[in-house]
Amino acid sequence: MEGRLGRGHDPLPAMLRGVWPEELLQDPARRPRYATSPEEFLSELLTGEHVEDFIVLPNGTELLGLSYEDTIPEDVRLCLQDCCNAQDFVKKILHHPEMLEKYRADVEYVDSKRQQRDTLRKDKLDLGKRIREALRMVEVGEVNADLLYVAEMRLKQEAPHPMGGEKVKTICQRDVKDVLGPLASWTLYWDRYDEGFFAGGRFSGKGLHVDQVLWSNVGRNYKGYKLAAAWPKGECSKQVALEFYDVLFVPPLQPRELEALHKAAKVVLLQPGDVYMFSGGVAHTVLCVSQEMCIGVYESFVTFHPNHVNHFLHTDDAEGEYNLGSYSMSPRSFRDTKDDCLDQLEDAADQLQQGGVAAVHHRAVPRAEAPPLWEQLRSRLLRSPGFLQSLERHYGETVDLCAGDRYMRREMPDKVYSAGKACGGLGGAVPLRAGQARRKRCRSQRSNPSPSSYSSYSYLTDEEQLAEENARPSVCGDVRLEG
Ligand SMILES: [Fe+2]
Repeated sequence: MEGRLGRGHDPLPAMLRGVWPEELLQDPARRPRYATSPEEFLSELLTGEHVEDFIVLPNGTELLGLSYEDTIPEDVRLCLQDCCNAQDFVKKILHHPEMLEKYRADVEYVDSKRQQRDTLRKDKLDLGKRIREALRMVEVGEVNADLLYVAEMRLKQEAPHPMGGEKVKTICQRDVKDVLGPLASWTLYWDRYDEGFFAGGRFSGKGLHVDQVLWSNVGRNYKGYKLAAAWPKGECSKQVALEFYDVLFVPPLQPRELEALHKAAKVVLLQPGDVYMFSGGVAHTVLCVSQEMCIGVYESFVTFHPNHVNHFLHTDDAEGEYNLGSYSMSPRSFRDTKDDCLDQLEDAADQLQQGGVAAVHHRAVPRAEAPPLWEQLRSRLLRSPGFLQSLERHYGETVDLCAGDRYMRREMPDKVYSAGKACGGLGGAVPLRAGQARRKRCRSQRSNPSPSSYSSYSYLTDEEQLAEENARPSVCGDVRLEG
């Protein structure tokens, strides 16, 4: 790929010298995969596998009809004009009281231990107060102004999305979700309700972390160049996350940080206009490297690819290589995410009942605001060989994987089980995943209780639990798949 890192013989651009080790930046094994067309990128997004990968569509913001001007609200763009870093940006926002009312954002700084922190977490809705606190810390020399970072900027009050119509807090006026249209239902989860917006200058960025849910991100890098590193899933991600949680990998790197960076699976230079996807469920970190300010947004999603569904379902593991304790979403909150997943599975089942996604796509009347490009992209995608078959096969597998989760198994509508079966799956006739059998307390039934056994309890074995779970009503119904 012309002008990209990883070809081994190009001199390193000046902005990258002395930042991260050159051998990592130039390593072909750590480079991303590049999609050569928007259709290829969308197909990869919906049916491909990227748990330990990084996929980039160069100039994707234009190729997908998601330009900066069409996406970012005018008031935010005006404030970002001529800014070199987050300090410039937040100072400008302070002069616009209406923006302080309209938006919330994290204003992050880096402490003396190189760890990224939020200003005034308790005042998360008071943007003015958070900005003034960050500027005070800079003023008294407590923090480095260059490393300030504006993260997760959102609307304070939800409002109808200009394209989708549903209520959202995202500031973005169009998203990858809008490009996908009815195809977005063919994912297990899609979050643009409160998608992220980030802005910062050279050497600011996002400290190392694993997202609180083991999902994927699709990002748009509108301005500036930034480095991203992503580590292998499971144990490796857990180890680096626990040692370097929220640490910003800003040069000069410490010996332990260098060692950790050498374990990264991917090291990627993102350029202006890149649209990219990767798993947020592995350890990852981002560092802005250009003099020009970096401005980016991302949506979170989980595809029906079984590897992604499997990874996602580890989010609430109580132990093991995916368990990150309080860094993970709590099981209670994760149940709400699972409810959203069930809605998605149901939407896809409804589309199958209506003749399949292609039929739904052909019948759908695009919103007047939607560029014709999106409809054309979807048509080309639906015509590409094997795409629909992969989507439906993955749906069937996803229904089975979700049926292995205690909560989802109980809540999943019968029409989803039926649709899964029609797509070649087992219709949910699968055992619960390991670790899902509830340790249910029940009093022992002893005919002649002795004093010592009087208050004893037994636990259901996995097999007994399974028999109980399998006692749910059998699946019936007829789903017609698109021929
Ligand atoms: Fe993240």
